[in-house]
Amino acid sequence: MTQAQRVVVVTGASRGIGAAIAQDLSQHGYWVWMVARDAGALHRVASSIRDQGGRADFVPFDITDIDNAPKVFERISQETGHLDGLVNNAGTTRRGSLTEISPEDYDGVMRVNVRSLIFFTQAALPFISHDGAIVNMASLNSFNVLRGAGLYAASKAAVLQLTRAFAIDVADRGIRVNAVAPGFIHTDFNHALWERPEIREWVETNTPLGRLGRPQDVVGAVRFLLSPDSSFVTGSVLVLDGGFLPSRLWPL
Ligand SMILES: NC(=O)c1ccc[n+]([C@@H]2O[C@H](COP(=O)([O-])OP(=O)(O)OC[C@H]3O[C@@H](n4cnc5c(N)ncnc54)[C@H](OP(=O)(O)O)[C@@H]3O)[C@@H](O)[C@H]2O)c1
Repeated sequence: MTQAQRVVVVTGASRGIGAAIAQDLSQHGYWVWMVARDAGALHRVASSIRDQGGRADFVPFDITDIDNAPKVFERISQETGHLDGLVNNAGTTRRGSLTEISPEDYDGVMRVNVRSLIFFTQAALPFISHDGAIVNMASLNSFNVLRGAGLYAASKAAVLQLTRAFAIDVADRGIRVNAVAPGFIHTDFNHALWERPEIREWVETNTPLGRLGRPQDVVGAVRFLLSPDSSFVTGSVLVLDGGFLPSRLWPL
């Protein structure tokens, strides 16, 4: 009997880290289903994956529409017959001091990064196979608070605790739940920051590996946490930050 192709859903795959994850997983034999709002961008990522011989499909969907999330997984499982993994990568941010943020800022960040992560995962769980795995996108901001990113940091700290809590709550189904926590990765998300030489230099100086990260620096860890190679890993987080978090490079 031939083994069925492994199927994974990746949210926020229309660009940046999510698109890189989708590309990588497809190159490693996964049938990738991509979810984001921008249908045109999803189409371009799917076409590029297919051009390279991979298998990719997409569902244009706003993950904050939690009432309709089960329909996304019904549709995917009708086409695939099974689901092996979910990568909760979609995320957003608003800059600003907590003294000034608005309720709209709060809702904008928390709805995507926290509320949708819980309910999109809930919607996926009935379809995920017994040895399936979920990977959540945390951040170095899950541990540190960078000035002006308090709301985002709170949301990413929540992602870490939700990862641990989901890991406990679905362990009896054989499903593993882990997170990756990237450091400074150059994407559209933060492109404006890297245009400013003083900020780029600060990151490069304070990162032992001496550079910004790339989306490709994240993909291998996600693939590992989805695969049977991490079969005894759950509730964990892999930090991918070039050494930024555990170090303070002082001028000696
Ligand atoms: N870049 C970094 O330095 C960094 C570091 C640590 C963690 N992260 C995290 O990594 C993840 C990806 O970041 P990135 O840098 O690749 O960001 P990005 O380039 O801005 O991409 C964000 C992705 O999320 C999707 N998305 C946002 N809101 C959505 C919604 N309501 N429904 C569906 N999809 C939605 C976007 O797609 P549409 O606009 O098409 O919906 C897009 O594909 C985020 O969770 C981010 O917090 C990033």
